[in-house]
Amino acid sequence: MVGLGLIGCSWVKGLRSQGCVGEVVGYDRNLDSMQEALRTGLIDDFSTDLSLAVQASDLVIISVPILAVRQVLEDMLPGLAAETVLTDVGSVKGSVAADVAAVLGADFPRFVLGHPIAGSERSGVAAADEHLYVRHKVILTPQAHTEARALALVKSAWQAVGADVEEMMVAHHDEVLAATSHLPHLLAYSLVDTLANSHENKEIFNYAAGGFRDFTRIAASSPVMWRDIFSANKGQVLKTLDLFSHDLAFLRAAIEQDDTTTVMGVLTRAKVARDHFSKILARRAYVDPMKTASVNYLASPAGALTGSFRVPGDKSISHRSIMLGSLANGTTEVTGFLEGEDSLATLQAFRDMGVVIEGPHRGRVTIHGVGLHGLQAPPNTLYLGNSGTSMRLLAGLMAGQDFDVEMSGDESLSKRPMGRVADPLRLMGAVVDTAEGGRPPLKVHGANKLQGIHYDLPMASAQVKSCVLLAGLYAAGETSVTEPAPTRDHTERMLKGFGYDVQVDGSTVRIQSGGELTATNIDVPSDISSAAFFMVGASIAEGSDITLEHVGINPTRIGVINILKAMGGNIEVLNEREVGGEPVADIRIRSAQLKGIHIPEDQVPLAIDEFPALFVAAACAEGETVLTGAEELRVKESDRIQAMVDGLVALGVDARGTEDGARIQGKGGQGMAEAVFGSGDIVTHHDHRIAMSFAMASLRAAGVIRILDCANVATSFPGFVELSNNAGLNIEAKEG
Ligand code: S3P
Repeated sequence: MVGLGLIGCSWVKGLRSQGCVGEVVGYDRNLDSMQEALRTGLIDDFSTDLSLAVQASDLVIISVPILAVRQVLEDMLPGLAAETVLTDVGSVKGSVAADVAAVLGADFPRFVLGHPIAGSERSGVAAADEHLYVRHKVILTPQAHTEARALALVKSAWQAVGADVEEMMVAHHDEVLAATSHLPHLLAYSLVDTLANSHENKEIFNYAAGGFRDFTRIAASSPVMWRDIFSANKGQVLKTLDLFSHDLAFLRAAIEQDDTTTVMGVLTRAKVARDHFSKILARRAYVDPMKTASVNYLASPAGALTGSFRVPGDKSISHRSIMLGSLANGTTEVTGFLEGEDSLATLQAFRDMGVVIEGPHRGRVTIHGVGLHGLQAPPNTLYLGNSGTSMRLLAGLMAGQDFDVEMSGDESLSKRPMGRVADPLRLMGAVVDTAEGGRPPLKVHGANKLQGIHYDLPMASAQVKSCVLLAGLYAAGETSVTEPAPTRDHTERMLKGFGYDVQVDGSTVRIQSGGELTATNIDVPSDISSAAFFMVGASIAEGSDITLEHVGINPTRIGVINILKAMGGNIEVLNEREVGGEPVADIRIRSAQLKGIHIPEDQVPLAIDEFPALFVAAACAEGETVLTGAEELRVKESDRIQAMVDGLVALGVDARGTEDGARIQGKGGQGMAEAVFGSGDIVTHHDHRIAMSFAMASLRAAGVIRILDCANVATSFPGFVELSNNAGLNIEAKEG
């Protein structure tokens, strides 16, 4: 081991504790360090002559300041054996590669360039920590001529101490590290120096416990090491410093000009990014963020549902509030916003396109609108998670921008049909690319002149209708859409709320381009789609009596109430009122013996998201329930016909899927006290509504229902388990 600092000593200490090394010979310029390492048992021997120290070694670990590497290589050269593998731990790889080429030859095969992403502001033999690399990343940057045996040896030596090893190109490593490590160290040193030189320095250091301490901890690192890193990676360090200086000057100007919106924009974007990093770091240092922990529900039999409560805000309205608020002139205040992952994906997309959005904080969001033509190109692909509404509505809006946008989503969204929005947009003159079969990712090319069209919707879909209408804001002339059956009309209502003229004539909606959106305030009602689970739960659980407060009862959404009433449900709609153009009410539900019906097809689009819950109601009814005309259910977050039928069958219910619906034989004939469902495992296909529906089934179950993969409940209903348990359910969420 060459150089007895924290990094090398921690690695060797870890290897020793794993029993992976035979004899360790140390070398350091400092005799005291070598003696200390020998005394503490870290090394077995040392030499003051480097060429002797490395003789007959299997592996030489070079852990010295970057600019000392070349001299060290020259000094050890006479003693290097033909088989010896070498590696280093430096924070810059380009300069070490150049040193190796200069001293050992351009194609030297046994030097493996490495860099552990771990450290501490502490240094020296005494600070060595055998656990320093556990679950930390180590980046190896092998070159074309690096020998496979050498790479495998170094890789296994890192894995032995618990590190996650990754490989990267040398130049890419130096670019990434300049931004993530070198610049922050440079700023910390510079800030401390500036403050220490100021007249007030005594005051500053007296009160240095706050931001100063957090921001500058790394300025206590080794100056020699960092001097070397800044010079060895000069090009990349200067490049990222210039970028930072430019952005800092921008922030300075905004403060000088009292441009509080711009300042808020920088701060909110930074906070969101930092919160995101915190989550990643909390789970595991420097690990891919995209894997959501899996959550299963254990839903045990429960009694009645009682109480008066409010479910979270409407998802459809929350999405639209961000979209139209962002494109309006002025500041829009939203209350009751759904803080679920789907609507947050829309919010983040608009932040990525330069809109300053404050919150959400307890459902309150403040959007500083940029006007219809004020969006900026996002720096990256817009990642929309599980949210089909985000992708389809945004596709329409993006078609009208003068920049290109790519949109992607999670595994479920990546399977959903996007041809249904790409087709009409192409008719309007947009250029839209999809992956095979019209699936995401979706690329919408900017700067294409859109032409207004008339579009007859081939399916009853509010998302497609909204997509075309939103593109119509940017299309020459008039855009109109005719729908085969009424679908939710939140886009039309909210456009009117923002002062935009929309004409509705029977099943046809018309819009002209050239108008403007004017900021307004939006009170988002509770989501009837979330309320639906409790409507079903209270209906099927004997002795239940609940009131759901402030629920949106837009006539295009109340299919679930109509259907439950037709099945004999005991539902009262109370205190009807209107907030911001949307009707709301409190809904009281008491248990009732339901009966099976043939669900009227005209109710299907009005209850399209509520069928998973209604399938559970049907299983508890007396007699058969038949659903037809609902083929759209097969292309939701999962194939909801199949997922629900499979789940019901797993719990002992006689249910059968058909092409456009299902037949369910209700088991409620024995009276409300009888269990309907057995225990069993439910495969949700990561679909939030499948998970929540089967949670309600536990109210009439004989045993525990294990519901798999429920993490996506957070897309539409954060706090579902807590609220449900308060109302009388008995659900345990288990991280799997
Ligand atoms: C939605 C429309 C519906 C619905 C979805 C939300 C909307 O989708 O299922 O959850 O906000 O416009 P379709 O338009 O595909 O029916």
